[in-house]
Amino acid sequence: MSKNILITGASSGIGKAVALEFAKREAAKNHLILVARNQAKLDVVAEEVKALGASVSTFTADLGKKEDIAKLFTYLEKEVQSLDLVLNNAGLGYVKEAIALSDDEVEQIIDVNVIGMILVAKKAAAMMAKQGYGHIIFTSSLAGYIYLPTWSVYCASKWGITTFANVLRQEVAKHNIKITTVHPGPVQTEFFDPNKANVDLKKSEGSMPAIPVEDVSIAIYDIAYTGTERIFCPPKLKTAAEMFRLFPKFMAKMFAKLA
Ligand SMILES: NC(=O)c1ccc[n+]([C@@H]2O[C@H](COP(=O)([O-])OP(=O)(O)OC[C@H]3O[C@@H](n4cnc5c(N)ncnc54)[C@H](OP(=O)(O)O)[C@@H]3O)[C@@H](O)[C@H]2O)c1
Repeated sequence: MSKNILITGASSGIGKAVALEFAKREAAKNHLILVARNQAKLDVVAEEVKALGASVSTFTADLGKKEDIAKLFTYLEKEVQSLDLVLNNAGLGYVKEAIALSDDEVEQIIDVNVIGMILVAKKAAAMMAKQGYGHIIFTSSLAGYIYLPTWSVYCASKWGITTFANVLRQEVAKHNIKITTVHPGPVQTEFFDPNKANVDLKKSEGSMPAIPVEDVSIAIYDIAYTGTERIFCPPKLKTAAEMFRLFPKFMAKMFAKLA
């Protein structure tokens, strides 16, 4: 029987790359359910996935809206019934000082990166608890371990979702559900599209170069269905995160320079 893999934020970037990775590696074994707002972009990804031989369906949803998340799970319960793996990934950021963020921008970040991710995880975990197994992977960020100017609300969202995932892991272990958080530094995706995040990625290249998106999708593929609790992309960022935990004042000053 094929495995049902739900990927949110699958229309571009990390979500798209993970969909293609699963399609490439074990096409016949997987049914991919791709979710995002932009149906035209989802269709393009679905065509690429199909061309690699995997079965695929798409669902258009704004994951900042709880009604859309409810509709998504009604669809999943009816159409696929079981979920083997979830990449809880859809997210966004606006890179500005807190006082420059509009109320609407703050709300969008929290609605999608925190509330949307929590509702998707909670509903997926309920389906998985019934079947007695499953794995939910959260795309957090290095920003879920550190903090730096111009990223206040984004950092708050990623610290928040990382903490939620850590507690969820403790609660759902009894149902044989695994929980992983993924912590990338800068990655070459549309996240840094100046129209989306309002940041010029090239300016930060010297300090912390953005990695190819495939580095993240391969790392995620490699830990699927394992009990790995967290990964950093690239792995050396684990040291930066650990240093931040041990020496927050010193490390916060260093990261403030990067911002
Ligand atoms: N790129 C980085 O440097 C980086 C680093 C660390 C963590 N991350 C995290 O990685 C995740 C994926 O980002 P990415 O880098 O792949 O950026 P991306 O290329 O901009 O992709 C973001 C995805 O999220 C979807 N999305 C955004 N808002 C949504 C909403 N309201 N409802 C449903 N889907 C929504 C987008 O689809 P639609 O626009 O079609 O809805 C898109 O598929 C995010 O959680 C981000 O915080 C990124």
